[in-house]
Amino acid sequence: MTPLILAIDQGTTSSRAILFDAQGDRVAFAQQEFPQHFPQNGWVEHDPDDLWQSTLHTARDVLASEGIDAQAIVGIGITNQRETTLVWDRHTGTPLYNAIVWQDRRTSEQCQTLRDAGHTGLIQEKTGLLIDPYFSATKLGWILDHVAGARDRAVRGDLLFGTVDTYLIWKLTAGRSHVTDATNASRTCLFNIHDQCWDDDLLALFDIPREMLPEVKDCADDFGQTDPDWLGLSLPIAGVAGDQQAALIGQTCFEPGMVKSTYGTGCFMIMNTGSSAQSSEHKLLTTVGYRLKGEVTYAMEGSIFIAGAAIQWLRDGLRLFSNAEETESLARQTTAGHGVYLVPAFTGLGAPHWDPQARGAIFGLTRDTGIAEIVAAGLQSVCYQTRDLQTCMNQDVGCEAQTLRVDGGMVSNNWVMQFLADILNVQVDRPTLLETTALGAAYVAGLQLGWYDSLDDIAALWQKDCSFSPQLDDDTRQRLYDGWLNAVARVKSDIA
Ligand code: G3P
Repeated sequence: MTPLILAIDQGTTSSRAILFDAQGDRVAFAQQEFPQHFPQNGWVEHDPDDLWQSTLHTARDVLASEGIDAQAIVGIGITNQRETTLVWDRHTGTPLYNAIVWQDRRTSEQCQTLRDAGHTGLIQEKTGLLIDPYFSATKLGWILDHVAGARDRAVRGDLLFGTVDTYLIWKLTAGRSHVTDATNASRTCLFNIHDQCWDDDLLALFDIPREMLPEVKDCADDFGQTDPDWLGLSLPIAGVAGDQQAALIGQTCFEPGMVKSTYGTGCFMIMNTGSSAQSSEHKLLTTVGYRLKGEVTYAMEGSIFIAGAAIQWLRDGLRLFSNAEETESLARQTTAGHGVYLVPAFTGLGAPHWDPQARGAIFGLTRDTGIAEIVAAGLQSVCYQTRDLQTCMNQDVGCEAQTLRVDGGMVSNNWVMQFLADILNVQVDRPTLLETTALGAAYVAGLQLGWYDSLDDIAALWQKDCSFSPQLDDDTRQRLYDGWLNAVARVKSDIA
């Protein structure tokens, strides 16, 4: 019986469960989408029960796959959409409010007030982050301020806070573990990434009672045992990492200077910066890449809020096609100079602009613009945004990475990957397995369970599917990118 690890990947639009063997090969897979709630302009919520039920459903599904003996499962790794904020009653498990999703912009004004009061420096210094509604702190404060009696209950120790990993672990262990890992903690804006602890000054600034916070563990650690009622057996939860850091691990970017970019709902470009928490002059984030045996590897991150979500909008909102796979052939019908730019600032702009009030737009429409051009512009917007991040990252670290490892659903589109290589002017490497996020969670669990002795063992498992090399001439590249910069400038609000 080949031993397997169950990787749970709780993402923004779907939950997945994947079984991996020690070679990092995918043995079985299950996925379930769940509803998104948009109660007001710029608000995004998830029903906590949807997060839990879809996770449980996919985990049970994958264990029931043909030829799988549940006894072969040796442990669980969890990866998750980060920053998304939940609060629940410690005694009953009842959530106080929906999960406020990372994309949610409801605390924009509060963030502006904090910026105006001059707190940016302190926050950047301690957390590596900027003041933005993206991170958990103001979302948590919003729940405490808007649910009647919540603050008093929190101070009395009756409420628990968690990002999605924490909530799922609490559910899976039937309330026995209230824990998170250092990568997820580093996205809350309450965690000091240098001292590796919840920070008293930040807790005071955001008015968050310490009693509600989870214990912070390494990525490979003992996160508790699952209750046998859920999966029919009790399994150790042995690894946890926020999804973008898990992708960094799954892409085996273990050397300083290595970069990966993941194209899921959003796009997140992360560079390993080793033991140094390098700060950015260009509004990129400094974050925990992973923490193993108490040792922190830091990373620099550029976060784009809308990537795959733009394609989802073209499919479900505008109904321009019925399956994302059709976008490749549509895009191939366009010419390089079609002149249409789609800026998908549906929930504001992330790095490097950090403009929560910007909104999306399409520019350059002419009488001959058709579905193909609009779809191509949607796909290209993801590449242009990656170029924005690349420019900043290169300036911050003072050198140019020559290759980029990519993953996530969108990268199976060859047209997009070629355009990405063209517009970045670097080689784009695609691995054979695109579920890199889940793979990273399995790897950290595997480290804890003794499957691997070191990161070198894991790095040896990375396998390339193919590379895309730049083919565009410099003038065309610059002209296309200038058009994008012009389009972005037109959607920005005054505050950016
Ligand atoms: O920071 C948000 C990120 O963790 C969400 O990832 O894959 O759901 O777009 P994804």
